[in-house]
Amino acid sequence: MINSYIKGISYYVPEKIITNSDLEKMMDTTDEWITTRTGIKQRHSVGNQKLGPADLAVESTKKVLKKTNTNLTDIDFVIFATSTPDYYVPGSGSLFQAKMGLQNIGVLDIRQACAGFVYALSVADQYIKSGMYKNILVIGSEVQTTQLDYDNEGRGTAIIFGDGAASALIKPTKVKNKGILSSHLHSDGKYIDELGTRAPSPKIQGLINKKNIDDRDHHIFMNGREVFKHAVKRFPEVILEGLQYNKIAIDDVKLVIPHQANYRITKAVQKNLKIDESKVFSNIHKYGNTTAASVGIALSEAIAENKINDNDIIVLVAFGAGFYWASTIIRWHNE
Ligand code: ACO
Repeated sequence: MINSYIKGISYYVPEKIITNSDLEKMMDTTDEWITTRTGIKQRHSVGNQKLGPADLAVESTKKVLKKTNTNLTDIDFVIFATSTPDYYVPGSGSLFQAKMGLQNIGVLDIRQACAGFVYALSVADQYIKSGMYKNILVIGSEVQTTQLDYDNEGRGTAIIFGDGAASALIKPTKVKNKGILSSHLHSDGKYIDELGTRAPSPKIQGLINKKNIDDRDHHIFMNGREVFKHAVKRFPEVILEGLQYNKIAIDDVKLVIPHQANYRITKAVQKNLKIDESKVFSNIHKYGNTTAASVGIALSEAIAENKINDNDIIVLVAFGAGFYWASTIIRWHNE
């Protein structure tokens, strides 16, 4: 039996930082409001550098290839998760492939928003288990700050999101019961109008028109209270589903790495699970919500901070637009 495991993971965030006090100058908000509601103090931004998720992913991928001593020619498949694609069509994966000089291998794009990284990992796991591929790059990358509405009308969402990318190298191992143990994926499309971006859309002649711009359809919309209500239910539910499937007790989990949606959501999940706050990783104060990149960035930082050792049970978990929600249960494997 072959299992897949995360051989290495790296992240990249653009240099420019937008602090809460910068936002105070753009809209009617305060550092205090943002901090108490979300836990966010700053977020990174590509600013006006004209960079997309493929560009950020090139940087995080160069780092992971170096870290894992892997040649570009060893990569046999790419799974690219983003909700802010460089092109309307095709997916960012092909642009990333061209920028990296990765020739003729398969590339798959994933559009599961905040759950993108966890969904992408589940696909990589299956390809590795089946023996089809041996060195898969799983990428979560987002450029959110160029589409946000940095004025009073957009203040409910503009304060939340940031830019960043994470790249993981997924490989096979024959060591029994280590690496990715299971993935648990869910979706409920009836909540599509609670969170998302409506334009561009082929339902509109020309994909986007003046009315869309006046109605701000090209900016992200969010029904914050509805998202909160569902997130605090679905996060614990899908964590426990994964643990029960593997007959692992919550107390045996070393670290939960949730999608960094909002610190209040993370805190509510920790309380619901009755686990110590040291067992739930958070770095939202530094990066804000980086959508598909957030779980990967958080995992990368947790490893760098020596919070993860061989044999530890790690839970990756995400919830977001769709609504999509998902978890991955891992027995950490160092090889
Ligand atoms: N600064 C100051 N005031 C603001 C801001 C802001 N940035 N944004 C909204 N307000 C105001 C509103 O206009 C409103 O004013 P009013 O009472 O005069 O009408 C007031 O604050 C309260 O607005 P609510 O939207 O009701 O604020 P709430 O207390 O619900 O907090 C928040 C908003 C933080 C978004 C909350 O709903 C929440 O935590 N939701 C979870 C959603 C989330 O964090 N999603 C993350 C992204 S999605 C994902 O990753 C899953």
